[in-house]
Amino acid sequence: MKADSLTPPRARFLRACRRLPVDRTPVWFMRQAGRYLPEYRALRRRYSLLELCRQPDLAVEVTLQPVRRLGVDAAILFADILLPLIPMGADLAFHPGRGPVINNPLREEADLARLRPVQVEEDLGYVLETVRLLRRELPAEVPLIGFAGAPFTVASYLIEGGSSRYFLHTKQMLYRRPDLWRRLMGRLVPVLTEYLVAQAEAGAQALQIFDSWAGALSPQDYRAYVLPYLRPMIARVRETGVPVILFGTVTATLLEAMAEAGADVIGVDWRVPLDVAWERLGPDLALQGNLDPAALFAPPEELARRVEDVLRRAGGRPGHIFNLGHGVLPQTPVEALQQVVDLVRRDAIVPISPGDGGPA
Ligand code: CP3
Repeated sequence: MKADSLTPPRARFLRACRRLPVDRTPVWFMRQAGRYLPEYRALRRRYSLLELCRQPDLAVEVTLQPVRRLGVDAAILFADILLPLIPMGADLAFHPGRGPVINNPLREEADLARLRPVQVEEDLGYVLETVRLLRRELPAEVPLIGFAGAPFTVASYLIEGGSSRYFLHTKQMLYRRPDLWRRLMGRLVPVLTEYLVAQAEAGAQALQIFDSWAGALSPQDYRAYVLPYLRPMIARVRETGVPVILFGTVTATLLEAMAEAGADVIGVDWRVPLDVAWERLGPDLALQGNLDPAALFAPPEELARRVEDVLRRAGGRPGHIFNLGHGVLPQTPVEALQQVVDLVRRDAIVPISPGDGGPA
């Protein structure tokens, strides 16, 4: 355990990750860097997504854009969950409008044999450099969140060759070739684990694991094919002393199983009311969420009502991190996100009790 985890952090986002009292609810947004921001679109006219990720000075700039403009309580590293697949040999491209495409999907034994070993420090060194630069650039009160995709979600892209609706190739592997799935996990999980640990060592102050498509699985399949890999991965990552957020969507039936993975914070989508999720998971977990990203397209009064509803359901419990239930959509009006930040900021609820190491 690092000294870090013994001294209470000052930043309210990190305090909330540990369920310590905060002066007000921290707020940030998944996919807060991206196409809804004119300054991001301007950079994207000159550089591809992969160029933005691979050039640390550009990735730093894009990470900082929403921090400057919105005044959020945390920054999230600009990268993509699919980057670790490139050194493994995936022929990955991002097509405008079609999302990520992997031209050589992994379907059978021979494809698995072709996966290349990854040296995180070398092969993904550009991400670690971005983390180091960001820690120098970011103000102390804005912690940096690093991230990786979860084994299931990353594997689903590798197996399907891109985004998917029914995950049929992935499920065929689970149901017909569980041995192959186990061996694939044996290759992928160490890379993702080392990648997260390296981000923590480079200065990331929290780590989010995106299991965006875990909701495609039943609780039984989640426990059989996901948890056995997530649990040791999270245990190893937490040894760095950095809190871990586990996020997924369509997880209404999975929340209890997700909690068994051992993360500090569970990211909840908007389909489950936050108070219901908290009742089910108990008070020992922090929760992140869970405004419907589509609420940002509602008129200001309706948006305000929905933000207040999330805060009311959180009920001032320690460990609430305000966020959307999934990422910011590209068409989102910037003013709506600004309104949400302003509303959450104004909603000062839980006073800090003296002597707990909080900001003076
Ligand atoms: O602020 C941030 O969160 C930016 C960093 C970030 C990106 N991708 C950059 C990106 C993060 C945290 C991600 C995570 C990611 N990537 C996830 C998990 C989160 C989620 O939304 O569920 C997933 C599933 C991916 C895979 C991925 N990358 C998809 C499906 C797409 C295409 C869909 C889309 O939004 O365009 C991408 C491309 C991508 N990754 C963009 C960005 C900013 C859009 C790229 C562009 O500029 O063209």
